[in-house]
Amino acid sequence: MRLRRRVIQASLVVVGLSLFAAPAAAQSVNRAAIDDLNEQLLYVALPLTLFVELTLVYVIYRFRNNDDPKPTVDDPALEVTWTAATGAILVFVGVSAFVVMANPYITPAAAEASTDGDAFADDTEIDVLAYQWGWEFSYADTNVTTEERLVIPADENVTFRLQTTDVIHAIYIPQLGVKQDIFPGRTMTARTRATEPGEYRLYCAEMCGAGHSKMDATVVVKNQSAYDAWVENRTAAAG
Ligand code: CUA
Repeated sequence: MRLRRRVIQASLVVVGLSLFAAPAAAQSVNRAAIDDLNEQLLYVALPLTLFVELTLVYVIYRFRNNDDPKPTVDDPALEVTWTAATGAILVFVGVSAFVVMANPYITPAAAEASTDGDAFADDTEIDVLAYQWGWEFSYADTNVTTEERLVIPADENVTFRLQTTDVIHAIYIPQLGVKQDIFPGRTMTARTRATEPGEYRLYCAEMCGAGHSKMDATVVVKNQSAYDAWVENRTAAAG
């Protein structure tokens, strides 16, 4: 009995602490937008879940010996209330999700379409070529090309032009909140603004054959001066 109480107390403390623990700072603006949405929805879902579960437990306990149940009578006020409340919550969830989906970092194609394609003229542009099974990164306005390592500047808008030489692949950089399918015969666009220099993993997120699981790369985010030096270095090496 004592052990059980300890366990319950400990779980409550863990749940409580996890609610107040500040999430780690996001590593890109994409990731920050997605994390914020996640948090907003959690704060709506959590009280609702508690309300439903506590009501359920209360009702089970309260009516446990009800041998002669009576049918429920209509209660229009209650019905209107719960319909309206559900509607309001769905509108909130829909609007919050739409705002993030319309973010030009999350869905760059929409932003480009509305400005005749010159929305990201000042971005650092990188051509990404996916193939069975690997990645090739070409840095626009330079003769630099890399494989297995994608190097991008921090605190700069970066646009990826994505193409595939064969089947459907998908670029996925979880920590930067970047994910985009790449279809044969089309040029897709992904975009980010990394805020934390460091190394991140890049995966293919579309089953593309026997080598799919090995189709990964490292993303290196360098601050602007280190990035410029790296490009210069590679350009000299290539020349
Ligand atoms: Cu490419 Cu999986």
